[in-house]
Amino acid sequence: MKGLIQWYLVLSFLLLSLNFKVDCSLSSFSSNSSLKVFIISKNNLVGEIPSSICNLMSISILDLSNNKLSGTIPDCLASRGKMPNLTVLDLHMNKFHGNIPDSFVVGNKLQILNLNNNDFDGPFPKSLQNCHDLQVLNLGNNKINDTFPHWLGTLPQLQVLVLRSNYFHGQISPSEHESHFSALRILDVSHNEFSGFLPTTYFKSFEGMMNLSNVQTKSMEDFNFYYHFSVRVTVKGLDIELERILTLFTTIDMSSNKFQGKIPEIVGDLVSLQVLNFSHNSLTGHIPSSLGNLTALESLDLSTNKLVGQIPMQLIGLIFLEVLNLSQNQLVGLIPQGNQFNTFLNDSYRGNLGLCGFPVSKSCGKDEGQEPPESAFHEEGIYSCPLDWKFVMMGYGCGLVLGLSTGYIMLTIGKPEWLVRMVQRLGYKILRRLKSYN
Ligand SMILES: *[C@@H]1O[C@H](CO)[C@@H](O)[C@H](O)[C@H]1NC(C)=O
Ligand SMILES: *[C@@H]1O[C@H](CO)[C@@H](O)[C@H](O)[C@H]1NC(C)=O
Ligand SMILES: *[C@@H]1O[C@H](CO)[C@@H](O)[C@H](O)[C@H]1NC(C)=O
Ligand SMILES: *[C@@H]1O[C@H](CO)[C@@H](O)[C@H](O)[C@H]1NC(C)=O
Ligand SMILES: *[C@@H]1O[C@H](CO)[C@@H](O)[C@H](O)[C@H]1NC(C)=O
Ligand SMILES: *[C@@H]1O[C@H](CO)[C@@H](O)[C@H](O)[C@H]1NC(C)=O
Ligand SMILES: *[C@@H]1O[C@H](CO)[C@@H](O)[C@H](O)[C@H]1NC(C)=O
Ligand SMILES: *[C@@H]1O[C@H](CO)[C@@H](O)[C@H](O)[C@H]1NC(C)=O
Repeated sequence: MKGLIQWYLVLSFLLLSLNFKVDCSLSSFSSNSSLKVFIISKNNLVGEIPSSICNLMSISILDLSNNKLSGTIPDCLASRGKMPNLTVLDLHMNKFHGNIPDSFVVGNKLQILNLNNNDFDGPFPKSLQNCHDLQVLNLGNNKINDTFPHWLGTLPQLQVLVLRSNYFHGQISPSEHESHFSALRILDVSHNEFSGFLPTTYFKSFEGMMNLSNVQTKSMEDFNFYYHFSVRVTVKGLDIELERILTLFTTIDMSSNKFQGKIPEIVGDLVSLQVLNFSHNSLTGHIPSSLGNLTALESLDLSTNKLVGQIPMQLIGLIFLEVLNLSQNQLVGLIPQGNQFNTFLNDSYRGNLGLCGFPVSKSCGKDEGQEPPESAFHEEGIYSCPLDWKFVMMGYGCGLVLGLSTGYIMLTIGKPEWLVRMVQRLGYKILRRLKSYN
């Protein structure tokens, strides 16, 4: 058994680092094992998880992601006390189906649960509220049909909640007396069928998005140094995979649902927010001027709604804003001029017939009291104003670069010595063997 397990570890390490691919399937785990880390991601494995996997009683990190595994997942993975030390369960990018086991017991140690991109259906597992240490919950891209799991709001460490592309429906409304997601930094509920008003009460309680230092969470350093936590989100119009940048990235994506009513003023309090996407809903009313307080914002998408009125001048204060999309609304009046607004093209405003001024071709009447905008761009615009230009540059990826380097720092200080030595030894052995084949 020991031999088999080590073989798997090596396989994973090698395949990850040298990018080989093999097709094989999981064989059985015959007896109790003291294995703590089991990572076999990205190996094109097929077949089902043998129920004997429940023998891995000491397992702490189980990562079977990015394979072609199918079938249902054994109940013991949801911990029914059988894997009391499981902290990471990552099955994303496979073909598992059926219900997600609903047997998480009180006192379990699960911190990361990633089931993204499978075919899970049925209801949301309510027992997840027993996962007191849960930091990351990613159930995106499945077929879960349920209402919003407001009871997760009590989980004190929950930083990432991804429910995108499922069949969630109904209103997102908190229960009265619970605390509400105070550590959350990444909320992605896009591409569902949520309806009703935007959840003002939640926006008031997202303390993690108001001031990142508000959130005192356990560090992720105790994770294996080559378990790469990642989450796929839409940033600036691109679907990207963020790896290990949990602590610095904040986003709210509620796009492509059926939300209605106004954008609450209170959103302007989430001053650590970097990405906000409310597009493809039925939001009405004005754009609140408080959004001008979101000084960390890099991407704002309010397109395809029913917003009216003017674009608030306060948005000029968003000096890191790199992507703006207000198209397909009913906005009117002068487009704000200056700072980042000098950099947006007219696609950002398409489908708002009442907007005028740079960069759309319709100029504003004397009433609006502005210069013809083209000259503003060429003479007083970004070319002649170094300060503005600097802001433009900083807007490009500043947050991401910072995030990534932090990730790597964590990586270098976070890996357990024994594992480094073991992997190095195995690596050398294998390299020697490969050489002797040539
Ligand atoms: C596995 O360990 C548990 C307790 O640690 C014990 O009760 C059980 O008999 C063991 N099973 C085998 C097959 O060794
Ligand atoms: C879980 O971890 C604790 C503390 O590290 C250890 O004492 C215990 O034996 C572990 N349980 C299993 C089943 O390995
Ligand atoms: C979700 O479940 C409800 C019943 O609980 C059903 O009426 C509805 O059709 C389901 N939606 C989808 C998309 O499967
Ligand atoms: C965030 O909180 C820390 C400590 O709690 C404080 O020092 C800092 O000034 C706060 N930042 C903002 C922008 O409020
Ligand atoms: C906002 O979400 C929509 C889909 O829900 C997506 O197409 C768009 O690219 C996102 N906007 C940005 C700026 O990422
Ligand atoms: C946020 O914006 C509103 C409206 O623009 C303003 O009244 C308020 O003072 C701002 N709050 C902070 C903390 O800057
Ligand atoms: C803005 O959003 C619309 C859909 O809401 C999309 O068609 C368009 O490509 C987006 N424009 C930019 C510049 O991102
Ligand atoms: C958008 O800008 C392009 C040139 O950059 C121009 O040809 C086009 O007419 C503009 N469209 C509108 C609606 O202003």
